[in-house]
Amino acid sequence: VAPLKVGIAGLGTVGAEVVRLIETQARVLAGRSGRGIRVVAVTARSKAKKRSIDLRGVDWAKDPIALATHPEVDCFVELMGGAGDPALSAVEAALNAGKSVVTANKALLAKHGIKLAKSAEKHGGALNFEAAVGAAIPVIKTLREGLAATGISRVYGILNGTCNYILTRMEQEGLSFAECLKDAQRLGYAEADPSFDVDGHDTAQKLAILASLAFGTKVAQSAVYVEGISSIAPEDLRAAADLGYRVKLLGVAVRTAKGIEQRVHPTMVPKSSSIAQVMGVTNAVTIDGEGIPPITLVGPGAGGAATASAVVADIADVARGIRANPFGRPVAHLRDTTKAPMERH
Ligand code: NDP
Ligand code: HSE
Repeated sequence: VAPLKVGIAGLGTVGAEVVRLIETQARVLAGRSGRGIRVVAVTARSKAKKRSIDLRGVDWAKDPIALATHPEVDCFVELMGGAGDPALSAVEAALNAGKSVVTANKALLAKHGIKLAKSAEKHGGALNFEAAVGAAIPVIKTLREGLAATGISRVYGILNGTCNYILTRMEQEGLSFAECLKDAQRLGYAEADPSFDVDGHDTAQKLAILASLAFGTKVAQSAVYVEGISSIAPEDLRAAADLGYRVKLLGVAVRTAKGIEQRVHPTMVPKSSSIAQVMGVTNAVTIDGEGIPPITLVGPGAGGAATASAVVADIADVARGIRANPFGRPVAHLRDTTKAPMERH
């Protein structure tokens, strides 16, 4: 069988690890996919930049659209980030050409996910995004496939590694917010613009994606109430600790009689609760399903290697010919029942 030919746009924290993982796990991947996976072309902002990956024999496309429509590329992997161009036009171009797309870009999916899913449906390519929420944690597959037969009443958790890392180090080491954020950036956890992390928007984007999968509704980031952690100081965390609590940035999506309520805000959780034990860059997602006890998934929520693990698994699904409805059901069946964001109180 011919190998799956992959084109990767973006060779930063995640993209470089994806190239590395495809090479180091080539045999395992070929065994699991029934065919090889080969990176045939890449692109990034700067061709001249020194990178710690071997790109010998790999074509350098002049821009993301050229890569997305490259005649050799079967599967376009978007790892540049951003809700607008070039990510949007490149993903659209690949889908319109009938290619499959793998992306970790929650900003793009939260804003244009439905339009892109329609395009994937129309032209037959896959649109896979396991890495967009919870990095290595297989939460998208859990909601979309594992719980396909289960009604879901609530999905919530810690969805941003950077914020949990900052809150953990502030609490445990008494460091300032700014010092912790700098370390999160150095470790490759933070977004290119870290205000997306600390102001709660990254969590809101991920929550909107999870809510769509959980409740069969259209992704609606604008319906999420958002409050971040940037005004939290070490003394706030100490005060919470004195009362027996820890502060966590939670995303919560819950089915109510009036529609789906979605919110993101710092929350005081009892120190003895399991969510309070989730420390550092770790994420945790709890799913309340009807007729079964809650399911909690915990794992690394950010970082190059953790994210690449999910991206490459998505590529392996394309190689195996697995194609799911991106948001769990055909776009025409997704309902529009999200509530307006709640008022601040
Ligand atoms: P980086 O900033 O490390 O890398 C971005 C890459 O995209 C760089 O190689 C950059 O080129 C390239 N790029 C940026 N703009 C353009 C452009 N206009 N044209 C061509 N190439 C461009 O980001 P990450 O690797 O951290 O993140 C990538 C995606 O993965 C984002 O959507 C992010 O939200 C998502 N993600 C990240 C996680 C993480 O832990 N880092 C976890 C889960 C998802 P150059 O190298 O030349 O500057
Ligand atoms: N900046 C994100 C985070 C990356 O810290 O969670 C993973 O999506």
